Amino acid sequence: MERYLVVLIVVIAMVMIPCSSSASLVTFIFGDSLTEVGNNNYLQLSLAKSNYPHYGVDFNGGKATGRFTNGRTIGDIISDKLGISSPPPYLSLSPTDDAILKGVNYASGGAGILNETGLYFIERLSFDDQIKNFEATKQSMKTKIGDEAANKLCNEAVYFIGIGSNDYVNNFLQPFLEDGQQYTHDEFLGLLISTLGEQLTRLHQVGARKMVFHGLGPLGCIPSQRAKSSRGQCLGQVNLWVQQFNSKVKKLIATLNAHLPSSQLIFADTYQAVLDLIENPSAYGFKVSNTSCCNVDTKLGGLCLPNSKLCSNRSDYVFWDAFHPSDAANVVLAEHFFSTIISKSPSPAPQPSH
Ligand SMILES: *[C@@H]1O[C@H](CO)[C@@H](O)[C@H](O)[C@H]1NC(C)=O
Ligand SMILES: *[C@@H]1O[C@H](CO)[C@@H](O)[C@H](O)[C@H]1NC(C)=O
Ligand SMILES: *[C@@H]1O[C@H](CO)[C@@H](O)[C@H](O)[C@H]1NC(C)=O
Repeated sequence: MERYLVVLIVVIAMVMIPCSSSASLVTFIFGDSLTEVGNNNYLQLSLAKSNYPHYGVDFNGGKATGRFTNGRTIGDIISDKLGISSPPPYLSLSPTDDAILKGVNYASGGAGILNETGLYFIERLSFDDQIKNFEATKQSMKTKIGDEAANKLCNEAVYFIGIGSNDYVNNFLQPFLEDGQQYTHDEFLGLLISTLGEQLTRLHQVGARKMVFHGLGPLGCIPSQRAKSSRGQCLGQVNLWVQQFNSKVKKLIATLNAHLPSSQLIFADTYQAVLDLIENPSAYGFKVSNTSCCNVDTKLGGLCLPNSKLCSNRSDYVFWDAFHPSDAANVVLAEHFFSTIISKSPSPAPQPSH
């Protein structure tokens, strides 16, 4: 196992770190509650918060940090594998901190590709807000180390982006919100993809080159969606839509790679892996995948509450609350994410034969 990890790290390092660089890898993380590490703690009015028990019960120190799980996020685990520390939340940093040169996490629970997604959380940082914050970071970097070094740093960094779940769960799939009433799925998907295209192009303009976009999982199988079914089963229609989203993003990324100079975008498709984990939990050492450890599956709510009664063994559950995987599941998903990145990376040019 240990050896396997080392091999993976070496491979990912070859793929992502420029050969000459001896400095450690810098990563910038964009996304939603699956990757947030505490930005929303700083948004006073936000209802998308997880800085109270029992969140973080299995995190280092056992305290809630603003991560939406009992332990580590997928990003934390990937950082561990890369041998770097998980980047701190953007809102915890001041523009003069040296830390901005070592990676930043912009992710915000409730955020989506569209500005209006997550409206009922009052405050959250949409993907547009997150890109704006990254632009501010770039300015601060220039002030600190000069334009050329800041450009180089941004060109060489790796950008992990995981967004879109809330555009479904906390927007399109909520019957009382405008987008679900106003658009057919085809129209909504068109809007998501064109907006995402502009956003990734904007990131490229700020200097992002190596971007890894994490596709959506089978959202129809998360406990909060199962709660809408008659017998607790997955919602097939939702899963179909999610797969259409993934397939369009894949095409978008191919187009962007062809048009944006020096871009190396990768689409990490983990849909099947997550579905397999949910359908065959015992194959991965889990016992339950159709309900949450916090036992909070309802159509509307779904975050773990201080008075929630926890399951007896958190490692037995794929889902921590009605939306988010447990630490144990994140370990499995991070493994898969990692190997997907490697299989999707541009392969080296074939050797000329003599
Ligand atoms: C979303 O908000 C950003 C600023 O946060 C703005 O630049 C952008 O134009 C907005 N998009 C739409 C479609 O309103
Ligand atoms: C989850 O699956 C188990 C076993 O298949 C079943 O007994 C249980 O009722 C299901 N729970 C929910 C909430 O659907
Ligand atoms: C909890 O579950 C995991 C995985 O099934 C198992 O390895 C562990 O021994 C269990 N812990 C306890 C205290 O039962």
